[in-house]
Amino acid sequence: MRMVDLIEKKKLGGELSEEEIRFIVNGFTKGEIPDYQVSAFLMAVCFNHMTGDETFFLTDAMRKSGDVLDLSGISGVKVDKHSSGGVGDKTTLTLSPIVSSLGIPVAKMSGRGLGHTGGTIDKLESYPGFVTSIPEDRFIKQVNDIGICVAGQTKNLAPADKKLYALRDITATVAEPSLIASSIMSKKLSSGADAIVLDVKVGDGAFMKTVEEARHLAKIMVKLGKDAGKKTTAVLTSMEEPLGNAVGNILEVREAYESLKGNGPKDFMEVVYTLGTEMLILSGKYDTPESAKAAMEEVVENGSAAKKYEEWIIAQGGDPEIARDPEKFDHAKNALEIKAGQDGYVGSIKASDVGHAVMSLGGGRATKDDVIDLTVGTVLQKKVGDNVSSEDTIAVLYGNDEEKMRAAAEEIRNSYKIVGDAVPAPELILDIIR
Ligand code: URA
Repeated sequence: MRMVDLIEKKKLGGELSEEEIRFIVNGFTKGEIPDYQVSAFLMAVCFNHMTGDETFFLTDAMRKSGDVLDLSGISGVKVDKHSSGGVGDKTTLTLSPIVSSLGIPVAKMSGRGLGHTGGTIDKLESYPGFVTSIPEDRFIKQVNDIGICVAGQTKNLAPADKKLYALRDITATVAEPSLIASSIMSKKLSSGADAIVLDVKVGDGAFMKTVEEARHLAKIMVKLGKDAGKKTTAVLTSMEEPLGNAVGNILEVREAYESLKGNGPKDFMEVVYTLGTEMLILSGKYDTPESAKAAMEEVVENGSAAKKYEEWIIAQGGDPEIARDPEKFDHAKNALEIKAGQDGYVGSIKASDVGHAVMSLGGGRATKDDVIDLTVGTVLQKKVGDNVSSEDTIAVLYGNDEEKMRAAAEEIRNSYKIVGDAVPAPELILDIIR
């Protein structure tokens, strides 16, 4: 088989066989097929797409390119949750201890942030001492002992995806549904869960800009999950404005913890409870959305979810004092209030600009080797639909470099569109695909 023939076939709109796709994935992973040929192939896929069968074969080949975690040593139905990435998305931090305290084991692999979107592993590393690189036997033991462990993806989890993703990132071939779906699902299917809930973000701060695109992606992923024998549900959630109020690592961790104490922002808790409902139903422990939601609200109200969170952070080496009292986290040196500057209603907040502003303060990575400043970020005081007057603070910015803060403040102010007429609070849950 020759790679050039397979590129030609895809360029002309042909359908590749399982064997041909395996040849590409294995050859590229081993370094036998060069980047420039795979780049040409990826671009051909962007123009001609992939059939359902091709996408399944690609996912399967990527999944089998490395280790496949065996979680059979953990009793109970393991339900994983994955977000396609957004701004202010600290859902895993709040949702995991809630479902864990209801007896659903959480054995989760999470990623780091790149570009304007954050990553759970970076957020967890806000706790001094927190360990995210965990051997498989310890990972399983922790889940059996306390019901929850969140680790970084091991190097050898779907290595084909790591190489392909890096190449897609620099060849403008990220936003093709068959490539996104196979990338996400190869990792999810390697992580050993019995069931998967996908949070597919839609809007300005997400890969998928429209509900139609997101629904298309979600349907591909749900089918890939089911074809691999896993119960899979996708929830389409809005990422037009940042989720919750805090954006930036330590600030988000603090908000996630406050949410477990019953003080979560309304939009954030709606996403947490909707995803949690789907997880609890897939686990088989709850039959109806109403009973699942009531159970989650109860563990937040009675404090057991917050206790589970502290136990989890401490079990993974996080500083116990900070785990119990987030006031003890490091703080950024400076705080800057951003004013509305005009009367009206918040019509929109461009999530990608807020994410970018926080990144420019040092809160995110432009390249994968950048070191993050965990203290910086912003806390939004006004969200879409809120009434504002000119002197109101719409957001507070936290940073360590005054010049960078001035530019970031300008970017955040410009991310807000203030309009004259009242705006309804945006719809957050856009669809559920089961
Ligand atoms: N997240 C992934 O893991 N892969 C993609 O291709 C896009 C988002």
